[in-house]
Amino acid sequence: QFAQKDGYRFFMEKEIHEQCVVTSDTMLGRMCDEKVDFEEFDSSIIEGIEEIKICACGTSFHAGLTASYLFERLAKVRCSVEIASEFRYKEPLLNKNTLFIVISQSGETADTLEALKMANKEGLKSIVVCNVDNSSMTRIANYSVLTRAGIEKGVASTKAFSTQTVVLWMMALYFAQYKNSLSIEEMNSELKALREVPKSLKVHDSTHEKTKRLSKRYLHGHGFFFIGRDVFYPLALEGALKLKEISYLHAEGYPAGEMKHGPIALADPELFTIALMPQNLLYDKIKSNVEELSARDSTICAISPLDFDLADDYIKTNKYDHYMLEFFEMLVVLQLFSMEISVRLGNDVDMPRNLAKSVTVE
Ligand code: G6P
Repeated sequence: QFAQKDGYRFFMEKEIHEQCVVTSDTMLGRMCDEKVDFEEFDSSIIEGIEEIKICACGTSFHAGLTASYLFERLAKVRCSVEIASEFRYKEPLLNKNTLFIVISQSGETADTLEALKMANKEGLKSIVVCNVDNSSMTRIANYSVLTRAGIEKGVASTKAFSTQTVVLWMMALYFAQYKNSLSIEEMNSELKALREVPKSLKVHDSTHEKTKRLSKRYLHGHGFFFIGRDVFYPLALEGALKLKEISYLHAEGYPAGEMKHGPIALADPELFTIALMPQNLLYDKIKSNVEELSARDSTICAISPLDFDLADDYIKTNKYDHYMLEFFEMLVVLQLFSMEISVRLGNDVDMPRNLAKSVTVE
């Protein structure tokens, strides 16, 4: 058992460390000199497509929500995302010109599988972004794109999410190529950033130590708010979900600009705000949101490459010139943070109570 963990304490810890390798496997053969290519489909997949709908559950839903920003921003394709268990019973109106994308680590989640069947029945083109070949979803989707993360054992998903996000970002660029929605310079800077993803996912010992130290103090209190804007909002949701799953502490992910519409009423020193403050995306906006929380005495832990005077605690990330690289480095910080809190509480990191790795019943 220990050997399988390659010397790491938990599968989750091993899988966090693997992210730099598996994301590079995910890109292998899909990144040519100046473009993105998928052998799984050709550009006919985009013909006639007016919009994209994404359906998924749990962490895979967060990858989908992240992708919706990328599809609209980079490929200029309208994109909506839905939680599969909601989608399947809402009597959704489906349009044949919609490309339907489901995202699933296991390929077996009952609600996501059902959503895919519904889309197939309506004659929509479907793609599954999946980690398991020959799973129920890869068998029935029109196209399957594998994430190549390798077996993920920890119930709290880590490397599945990072590889899904990389695949979806590449798909957004594939669409952008077809639609000519980016200039050559823009496309090149996206591709350059993609190539740097594995590096941004490296676990830095100093950061890991910092999360260990912070975990001591962040055990008490009446809850956590993880806040971010744009793609850092789904990342905030993911950070909060990780903490809930393995520490059993109450945590919520929130779009930072929405705090003033209710949640800020909870602010006091026992409310911990984990603020995702990237340098390259809406920094001034998130800064002013965090200032408002600080003024109401919330305890602030800022994750940012830039010093922030009002932070009670500060986890410094590296500087990059693309916000997605900040996204991936912050992802690792959030994963380590929840793992260290779980360890300190004496919980079972890999097999948290009440949860299953894959939910094949409704
Ligand atoms: C379960 C797992 C989560 C996962 C979700 C969706 O709840 O505990 O980690 O995100 O299912 O799973 P899928 O295999 O469809 O990505």
